[in-house]
Amino acid sequence: MNRVYVCSCFGVTEQQVKKHAEDGACTPRQIASACKAGTDCGSCVRRIQAILGRGACPRRELADQGQPILTDLADAA
Ligand code: FES
Repeated sequence: MNRVYVCSCFGVTEQQVKKHAEDGACTPRQIASACKAGTDCGSCVRRIQAILGRGACPRRELADQGQPILTDLADAA
């Protein structure tokens, strides 16, 4: 598998960002403090956000599941 660099300033790969996300870094800011990614030119911050948005962070998924589905209830009544 070829390595995908998310942050070329610090040579941080997608795998590393995912690893930090699993360890509890749920925001680009927390990723930055974990591995410096995003603290130089800043052009990778959107990519980091995209990786976090894909569910790399378990806590974020739990929040998404908490959405109430009101339309289904209304149809059943
Ligand atoms: S590519 Fe990440 S700070 Fe520049």
